[in-house]
Amino acid sequence: MDEWSRLLRLQDKEYFEEVKRQSNVFKHYPLLKDDKMIFDNINKPELPAEFKFGEYFAPYMIQMDYNNNRWQEVLFKRYGKIGIEPGMSSLHYGQAVFEGQKVYKTADGGLNIFRPLDNFDRFNASLKRMCMPELRKPDIDVLYKGLKKLILLNKDWVPEEPSNLYIRMHAFASENFIGIRPATEYKLFIICSPVPPYLNGFAPTKLMIPEHYTRASIGGTGEAKSAGNYDGTLVPVEEAHTKGYSNCVFLRDGGYITECSAANIFFVINNKIVTPMLDGTILHGITRDSIIKLFKQYSFDVDELLITVNDLLFESYHGNLNEIFMTGTAACVIPVSELLYKDQKIKPTFDTGLITTFIYEKLTDVLYSRSDDDFGWVVKVN
Ligand SMILES: Cc1ncc(COP(=O)(O)O)c(C=O)c1O
Repeated sequence: MDEWSRLLRLQDKEYFEEVKRQSNVFKHYPLLKDDKMIFDNINKPELPAEFKFGEYFAPYMIQMDYNNNRWQEVLFKRYGKIGIEPGMSSLHYGQAVFEGQKVYKTADGGLNIFRPLDNFDRFNASLKRMCMPELRKPDIDVLYKGLKKLILLNKDWVPEEPSNLYIRMHAFASENFIGIRPATEYKLFIICSPVPPYLNGFAPTKLMIPEHYTRASIGGTGEAKSAGNYDGTLVPVEEAHTKGYSNCVFLRDGGYITECSAANIFFVINNKIVTPMLDGTILHGITRDSIIKLFKQYSFDVDELLITVNDLLFESYHGNLNEIFMTGTAACVIPVSELLYKDQKIKPTFDTGLITTFIYEKLTDVLYSRSDDDFGWVVKVN
């Protein structure tokens, strides 16, 4: 029996002990971001009473290496430092992709995850676009089982609603070489971090539409969840902050609305729900897809269209732009009360509209098992 199958067969307590033994062999001293949180291999740090988004990391992580033309076994380790060399190729040329999902603690202490296999599919699509080796079905099977185990190992770090344990799976080229070609070695990690609601949770926020910056273009990498799609948004988002806006909605060539730096966007125009179509420049948001399906379940039509900023200016001028909201795993559903484009303020009729509130409630009811999971999206971990 291979090591992995042996571990999977152990009962939780034995398994935990085994992981601890293995961790002791692992020599990197585990270190959390905050120096105060240094812990040894015996004492488990506790979930901090207060945390900002992505500030602390739960004690256990998964590592999976790629070498010799295949993804290797899943390893459980204490969260901690990893040794890298300055010549590691992803530090130079990218080849770094990631995924985000959340653990939702229900009122009865249950731990839910949402459409996790869709995250694996999208991870594979991102790997493919970045010329990185995809996970094969058996790799996904073992990682998916490992993910559920990891959540159980880190279960004391799952905060109460409305906070969550965020799960970050990521992979990067770990080969040490300088030269532009696909690497031959990669590393994949799954790490967990407690997070409060994004921005101010379900409260209206204001976004800026940058005039001179774009996030993605046709034929580019916009729909991949690759690191390079995020660093390019930092300058315009910083500029938005200085003007009092929380984030940006990006246009692509032609003046078409795409998405925010980490969320998709919806509009209610003339009481019709619309969202930019997936044209290769936009991440295929799992929340976006779920919301479209939920709306349809409740007999609302959703049109996936090309929407220009001029359309929005026109409709708001004529009083037809009723609601705007952004969606994503981090964001969940956040109402948008203003878009700034050049010096023009595009304001929907409602800061927080009825349709926005309706879909926020429907989605969170599913996420926290307060309503039936008609689409079979929720996976219960414990
Ligand atoms: C660029 C971008 N768009 C949209 C989303 C929303 O996607 P999802 O609903 O799958 O979290 C995210 C967050 O993951 C994102 O980073």
